[in-house]
Amino acid sequence: MVQSVTDLLSALEERLDQPTAKGLAHAVSAAIRDGVLVAGERLPPIRTVATQLVLSPTTVSAAWSLLTRSGAVATDGRRGTRVLDQGAVGSGRYRQAIDHPTAFALDLSTGVPDPALLPDLGRVLARLTTAPTTGSYLDDPVLPELVEALRPDWPYDAEQLAVVDGAMDGMDLLVRTQLRFGDRVVVEDPGFPPLVDLLESVGVQLVGVPVDDEGLDPAALESALLEPVAAVFLQPRAQNPTGVTMSSGRARAIADLLEGTRTLVVEDDSADGLSTSPLASLGQWRPEHTAYLRSFSKSHGPDLRLAAMSAPPAVLHAVTARRLLGQGWSSRLLQQVLLGLLLDPDAQQQVRTAAATYAARRAHVVDGLRRRGVDVPGSEGINIWVPVHDETAAVMRLASQGIGVAPGAPFRIGREPGEGWVRVTVGLVGEADLDRVTDALAVAAQASGWSGRAR
Ligand SMILES: Cc1ncc(COP(=O)(O)O)c(C=O)c1O
Repeated sequence: MVQSVTDLLSALEERLDQPTAKGLAHAVSAAIRDGVLVAGERLPPIRTVATQLVLSPTTVSAAWSLLTRSGAVATDGRRGTRVLDQGAVGSGRYRQAIDHPTAFALDLSTGVPDPALLPDLGRVLARLTTAPTTGSYLDDPVLPELVEALRPDWPYDAEQLAVVDGAMDGMDLLVRTQLRFGDRVVVEDPGFPPLVDLLESVGVQLVGVPVDDEGLDPAALESALLEPVAAVFLQPRAQNPTGVTMSSGRARAIADLLEGTRTLVVEDDSADGLSTSPLASLGQWRPEHTAYLRSFSKSHGPDLRLAAMSAPPAVLHAVTARRLLGQGWSSRLLQQVLLGLLLDPDAQQQVRTAAATYAARRAHVVDGLRRRGVDVPGSEGINIWVPVHDETAAVMRLASQGIGVAPGAPFRIGREPGEGWVRVTVGLVGEADLDRVTDALAVAAQASGWSGRAR
């Protein structure tokens, strides 16, 4: 609804809890959320807002910056600041990482598991005769038998487990129920682009913390914690993109750093079944401040769209209550399929074979690169994070050989000048292509940009 400046300012005043930049940004977000401000509408000039709401122009300008960073508004030179289409925000990094103008003979940019290594559904599906019914839409949203099957190797003693439509659904629910505009949130650098997109879409302030060979860097985390941090998102195993698995010493050190805080740690574990390392979860020390998500996408298939999660009771309650306003629960039919796969000895063997195959493919490429002077971090998973001399040159060179890889930029929060990386899903490389891909990567890692190639 396009309205008069006076109406708009009183709508903002009604929603202004605190006379600060964050308070004003909140008020504008609330006005967008309530439909008072719509996409395309222009915000009044900074001076007008400042005078009418008795704020300093600096405060208003800082609020506009916060809103710009969150993707809620955009400043368009002399034409002023406009509200953006909220539906259009949110998948920038993700698209940048995996969208390509052309198809590749061998697309290693995707981060998805090899379909040939997923367990067979036939036997499990054959055993399903009818879809489970629900007595009421308020029935227990989780199959009790599935919880029973998951309990024995759950990483800590969690009161309750929930099932959601994949780890991203779980994280979306956590973000929507636990975080607020302007909250400081620690993410791994490099990290998982869709998560960064999700967090940016709600306007939190991202603090990137580097990942070393044992997980989040403790010194960098310590300095991030000098100001309150609402949440830390980390991947405990086979971190995407680096392949790093958090050591139990590092998990303990992070728990120590967080002691006395209310910071929620969200553990996004997408490597269960495929990881050969023990799982270190901060839930062992801080169950009251840890949410642990276990995705079955890489081990059992992305299209099952299932993940299990535990979280402190109040958090899990908020997530479940929020879900009731949407899809309600994750299909019990799919939960039955997952349960069948988890219990079926053949499927278990297929997942073990997949884990061994991914490990062998990774080792082949990583060892080959090391012999050629290219050292790759991490120890497991379907992706490798390859340092390259020039990111664009490396991506283009590989593309010219029919090999798709993801550029490193969308994975990184901070950018060190001169650093370049590509993420390569080596888990998709079959036996016959391993040497060719290793050679191509070794050469692409050294490829330089325009000036180098022009000579
Ligand atoms: C680190 C990480 N988190 C989450 C996901 C998505 O998981 P899901 O399919 O369960 O939503 C992926 C998938 O590639 C991932 O690598």
